[in-house]
Amino acid sequence: METDPIDVPLTEPQVYTLRIQSGQVFTPRTPISSRELFAGRWNEIQQLVDAVNEIGLHVVLYGERGVGKTSLANVIPIIFEVFDADLKPPRSAPRITVRSNATTSDTFSSIWEKVFDQISWTQDMPTMGFKPKPGVELITLRSAYGVVDRELTIEDVRRVLSGLPGSVFVIDEFDRLTRKHASQFADLIKALSDGAIETTIMLVGVAETVDGLVRDHASIPRAITQIRLKPMLLKELTEILFNAEKKLGIIFEQAAGERIAFMSQGRPHYTHLVGQLAVRAACDRASGVVRMADVTKGFEQAVKATDHMISKLYDDATYSSHKDALWKQVLLACAISAVTESDQNGYFTPVAVVAPLSAILKRTIEISTFNGHLADFCETKRGVLQRTGYPRAYRYRFCDPLVPPYVLMRGVSEGTITPDTLAEVMNSRGAFSIGPEPPS
Ligand SMILES: Nc1ncnc2c1ncn2[C@@H]1O[C@H](COP(=O)(O)OP(=O)(O)OP(=O)(O)O)[C@@H](O)[C@H]1O
Ligand SMILES: [Mg+2]
Repeated sequence: METDPIDVPLTEPQVYTLRIQSGQVFTPRTPISSRELFAGRWNEIQQLVDAVNEIGLHVVLYGERGVGKTSLANVIPIIFEVFDADLKPPRSAPRITVRSNATTSDTFSSIWEKVFDQISWTQDMPTMGFKPKPGVELITLRSAYGVVDRELTIEDVRRVLSGLPGSVFVIDEFDRLTRKHASQFADLIKALSDGAIETTIMLVGVAETVDGLVRDHASIPRAITQIRLKPMLLKELTEILFNAEKKLGIIFEQAAGERIAFMSQGRPHYTHLVGQLAVRAACDRASGVVRMADVTKGFEQAVKATDHMISKLYDDATYSSHKDALWKQVLLACAISAVTESDQNGYFTPVAVVAPLSAILKRTIEISTFNGHLADFCETKRGVLQRTGYPRAYRYRFCDPLVPPYVLMRGVSEGTITPDTLAEVMNSRGAFSIGPEPPS
């Protein structure tokens, strides 16, 4: 990123290529699966590597929707490949790392069947994606262990895993499993930990707390390390843009890049979405330098391209036949409060809404002006907020954490607030620290 980069005019074929490549580098709806496009998360990677190296320790990786859980889980095998390549002496057998997604119809057994079916067995060793030489026998892991054609029990899985030293198993979307099947994972982890078996299970899912993900974890607290994936830091979101610059051979003007990262408010989905659209806006000018005007266009288009569920939440919440109704302004002030003044679970107080709403309306307002709006935002018709606490001490939060950055973008593109006023209001409230900090 440069403060005032000189324009780089592009030829027609270069524009064409850049348009296509920007769709490969910016992936707002697809988790990252390559190390070079993966940004930040050094602490979490370190914690994961430490957990794998500690026998008997397993991982619960949790966080809100879209925060980057699957992307982190995807780079684990890549990190271990690099790590293992430097090991002296080298590992005697390759490390097996397998990822699988749980669905609502899965059982404990069906998940392990899916996992084991990705592994083969040849010459007394597990292997993945390997074509044996002619004459070398390749059988499935399940037949090697005699666990074919039957429901897998905890003991079966324990026995198979004990033959795969150093292995790592990532079960994504774990929150989709029913309680009955999820609790068998807790029992399995206990058995693996008690038996000091050298394998690591990582349970990944959307949850506010680890209790939300592994309800029966009371029996396994010492056997698991809990990693809460926080919203990304501003510098990590900026790194997404740096990676794109390197890959695409373009430059983001510094202020333009910072605005994308800032408006994403910790949610990498929006950095990818607006980043891609802003690069394409620069393509329209046949330029390889992304400037503020391209980012402004990017926001306008991002508002249209955002997930229908999120835009519908906004439209329903702010619907009014009266021109002077304050729904949009109050919701925008709530979004500012949510990203600057919320507690670790995303709750903000009505008091926190006063200053941003006063800045938006350019007059001093009191809680009584918008208290009714907050209550209505929690009703089914406008249902965009949730409420906790008791009368006179209610706290509110957005029912979907991806909504506040959308409300900010929409506020700017509809002119409810100017980008400069928004940045001013947010900065005066310490928004650059981005998102609520989880408890230590
Ligand atoms: N570390 C990262 N570097 C770059 N982009 C990232 C990173 N983490 C996530 N992203 C991007 O953010 C978006 C959401 O990421 P991802 O799908 O991994 O999140 P998630 O927490 O698994 O979401 P869900 O709760 O929907 O399963 C994707 O566009 C992904 O490419
Ligand atoms: Mg995911």
